[in-house]
Amino acid sequence: MTSYTLRKANPAKTRADAVVVGVVQTDSGPALAPGGEEVEHAYGRALRPLLTTLGVAGKAGETTRVPTSGTLSSPLLVLVGLGREVSPTTVRRAAGAAARAVPNAASVALALPAETPDLVRAVTEGWALGGYTFTAYRASEDTAPGEVVVLSPSARRKETVAAFEEAQVLAEAVATTRDWVNTPPGDLTPPAFADAVLEAVAAATKGRGAPKVKATVLDETRLAELGCGGILGVGGGSAAPPRLVELSYAPKHARLHVALVGKGITYDSGGLSIKPASSMKEMKSDMAGAAAVVQATLVAARLGLPVRISTFVPMAENMLSGTAMRPGDVLSIYGGTTVEVSNTDAEGRLVLADALVRATEAQPDVIVDVATLTGAMVVALGDRIAGVMGSQDVVDQLLAAGETAGEAHWPMPIPEQMGERIRSSKIADLAQHDWVRWGGGLFAAAFLREFTAGLPWAHVDIAGPSFHSGGATGHLTAGGTGFSVATLVDYLRAQAG
Ligand code: BES
Ligand code: MN
Ligand code: ZN
Repeated sequence: MTSYTLRKANPAKTRADAVVVGVVQTDSGPALAPGGEEVEHAYGRALRPLLTTLGVAGKAGETTRVPTSGTLSSPLLVLVGLGREVSPTTVRRAAGAAARAVPNAASVALALPAETPDLVRAVTEGWALGGYTFTAYRASEDTAPGEVVVLSPSARRKETVAAFEEAQVLAEAVATTRDWVNTPPGDLTPPAFADAVLEAVAAATKGRGAPKVKATVLDETRLAELGCGGILGVGGGSAAPPRLVELSYAPKHARLHVALVGKGITYDSGGLSIKPASSMKEMKSDMAGAAAVVQATLVAARLGLPVRISTFVPMAENMLSGTAMRPGDVLSIYGGTTVEVSNTDAEGRLVLADALVRATEAQPDVIVDVATLTGAMVVALGDRIAGVMGSQDVVDQLLAAGETAGEAHWPMPIPEQMGERIRSSKIADLAQHDWVRWGGGLFAAAFLREFTAGLPWAHVDIAGPSFHSGGATGHLTAGGTGFSVATLVDYLRAQAG
């Protein structure tokens, strides 16, 4: 476990195994970023020529380790590039890269740009998330530094302290989201995932002064009684039965009631409409939306945000077997709307339909759903940007929250013509899919909207940014990214404020 402290101190005189300083690219060569002034001063005139000799340019993500030979109190100076700009986004990335440059330091002092609460937050989150590792399935030990000191000139201000503390809570939640996404699908079945959520709720609500969060798990028997045909249909092919987890955080002075819904497909093989092998290998991540909404709910509760939150998480494994749903089957969604299934691989919208109707029954002011819903959205926006669709004001609020959270979103439309396409079934109320490839992500959003009872609503398609297939870069590490947790928390914070 890493412990974090916030201090106003001279980094050159701070004793730690390593001190981290930023480097910015300027037209006249590399320059130390704000926060590094005293280090530069202590190191003296030798520093600049040294940077030139080492070829340090200050490019984003570049890290260089320099022995300090007694010039500083720390034996090692770590230089991390920010690129041309100093902003929360570049600082978050740089802190993440720096965390991987000294994986074995017992103590580290971070002298990165940290004048404002936003920057302190970026340093703390970036460091914590860039150093994230998933070691549950390895014999080797975790090697995270024991003590991290974040240096900030405004360390004694109330706002800075709050940002620093909130960043730690957020980073922890993002790390747990990543853990859940990275867990092999044979181990994170719907019942196991539901248990993990119960455990997380218990941990977040234990102790004096802890918030109250109510958690309910609906099993397959209860889902059948309720008529949740979407979840049962999708989960029917798996040996592991489906679940619907519902959370409620209802603080006394809530200013608003938000319902969160997250897609929790613990594995998506495509079902009888089976996926090609290459598309299947990362489908353990198809529960990333569920993980994100659960963790965002717990962060909001831990921070005591004055927002009532009702969270709905349908969990199912999309598999093939003699009991699997077939293309051609008709499912009855909770509340009675019927849907003709034509492609069992478009399963997310089916489980979300049940959960959305459950959400409307809680009579929230607004519904936000988060889902790894369509490959079409990945084709449109790539693997770092989420698509946001729905009610214009909710979409705008989520886009703004994404900005402050450092997560990229882009608005997408729900074209008029989708209304006709989702009504093209010859035998059921709605068609789940119509075999037109174009605008698949928008069709899916139009389908979901049918289950929102006309309430203000937005849908966030995180199929791209929820999982990082490459190696670590900035605060992103390989595998689950924890995308959406930060944006949802900032959205809830903004709505509450
Ligand atoms: N879980 C997938 C979407 C996905 C694709 C997530 C790539 C992450 C990365 C979803 O259930 C799916 O299979 N969607 C299909 C829908 C189609 C059959 C209408 C798709 O996008 O291909
Ligand atoms: Mn699918
Ligand atoms: Zn899926």
